[in-house]
Amino acid sequence: MPEARQPLDHLLLFGATGDLAQRMLLPSLYGLDEDGLLPADMAITGTARTDYDDNSYRAFAKKALDQFLPDDRKDKDKIATFLKRLRYQSLDANDLAGFKVLADKIGDASKELAIFLSTAPSLFEPTIRGLDSAGLAHGMVRIGLEKPLGYDLASSREINDAVARVFPEDRIFRIDHYLGKETVQNILALRFGNSFFEPVWNAQGIDNVQITIAETVGLEERAGYYDGAGALRDMVTNHMLQLLALIAMEPPARFDGTAIRDEKSKVFRSLRTITPEQVSQVTVTGQYGAGAVGGAVVKAYAEELGKPSATETFIAIKANIDNWRWQGVPFYIRTGKRMAVRRSEIAIQFRRVPHSMFAGRGGLLQPNKLIIRLQPEEYIQMLVMAKAPGLDRDGIHLREVPLNLSMDAEFAGARRRIAYERLLLDLIEGDQTLFVRRDEVEAQWAWTDAIRAGWAANDMKPKSYPSGTWGPSAAIALTERDGVTWQDD
Ligand code: BG6
Repeated sequence: MPEARQPLDHLLLFGATGDLAQRMLLPSLYGLDEDGLLPADMAITGTARTDYDDNSYRAFAKKALDQFLPDDRKDKDKIATFLKRLRYQSLDANDLAGFKVLADKIGDASKELAIFLSTAPSLFEPTIRGLDSAGLAHGMVRIGLEKPLGYDLASSREINDAVARVFPEDRIFRIDHYLGKETVQNILALRFGNSFFEPVWNAQGIDNVQITIAETVGLEERAGYYDGAGALRDMVTNHMLQLLALIAMEPPARFDGTAIRDEKSKVFRSLRTITPEQVSQVTVTGQYGAGAVGGAVVKAYAEELGKPSATETFIAIKANIDNWRWQGVPFYIRTGKRMAVRRSEIAIQFRRVPHSMFAGRGGLLQPNKLIIRLQPEEYIQMLVMAKAPGLDRDGIHLREVPLNLSMDAEFAGARRRIAYERLLLDLIEGDQTLFVRRDEVEAQWAWTDAIRAGWAANDMKPKSYPSGTWGPSAAIALTERDGVTWQDD
């Protein structure tokens, strides 16, 4: 539990007119308010370059809530109450004088304040400088930073240095929205709230781990950002490596920011560096071509973009973790846009039994698998071998059957929250557990930078794959070479 403190007076939202604010941040803040979870008197001041005043920003926010809240969450009175919290101050981050005006707008700027930066990373430095100059970076100010935090290790260090000149690490909250997802945290409950997994959660018990984040969407109006980023930076450096760390880390001693982040950080530092000599063997990149997704015909990436591009929209990697627990266990990770289905999933494949007593009687055994489905459904499934009913006069019939734990069904009454609800509440309350520490971010970049350096050294270009498939065929070969098949059903 975060220590008891005075309720927060003010939340300051930079990038308040952006896509994230409309889709996620405003609906999340409303969700928290609706449930009485925001401090009663907390005001929310939005800032961006657009020229709104309090009233026109409230109208803007109302439109966003109308569009992005599910119908069953729309309560006219509660929306009206929420909108009253909102204020707005237009601001050009490069204009120092504007921050003084912002500080005046906030009123008593010496009080506790939480700031959320959801702007282009190029604005981070001037924004921090502006906040500092206007007295908005004192000892009771926390700052939340939305990705992307740079585009490689060097640029991420630059941003981290700029923030660190003004804010100490214990007041910096770096967002990875995957850490706010319910099922992602369920990995912790599954691993460390049950005794039976831990003894086999290692190279002796596990054959391989597969992490998939497949999306059906394409560029989505984000060409400017995405084409400069690509799947490795956009998804692997952050979300996928965070999932990998939660699966691979040693048991933390406590559920707190230091203990959990220490263990994740050790995993990142144990990732085997992929050298230019190995990169073509252990990574596969792709770019979607034209095809059909969910019955709809869709354009190729380059056509959507309007020009040829060497940006990867798909990546598969065979990663290794060089420590005692995971020696020899491949972690296959893959993510892509315009894939066959939308699915985020972790599949843990256990080792085969050392000897099958059924072999002589025709019984075939499959290795056990644990499937953690994060989205669109939330469930945990353990695939175990069972005997099919019958007298077995022509041999023993064994079949893989699922033990299902459907989170959707078990917790049917509980509301599924947007990941940002939890993260914004933690920022408001000052709990850093689910935010990414500087050493984590930098170790993540160091690992993915080496991959990109390898691609450059080998002049590796993404292979085309038809939209609506599981990526280039080379991604299948990546695991098949090791006798492993991707979990695709
Ligand atoms: C974001 C990426 O961080 O995560 C997007 O920038 C991606 O490209 C998104 O679509 C996926 O998030 P989710 O929660 O929809 O799986």
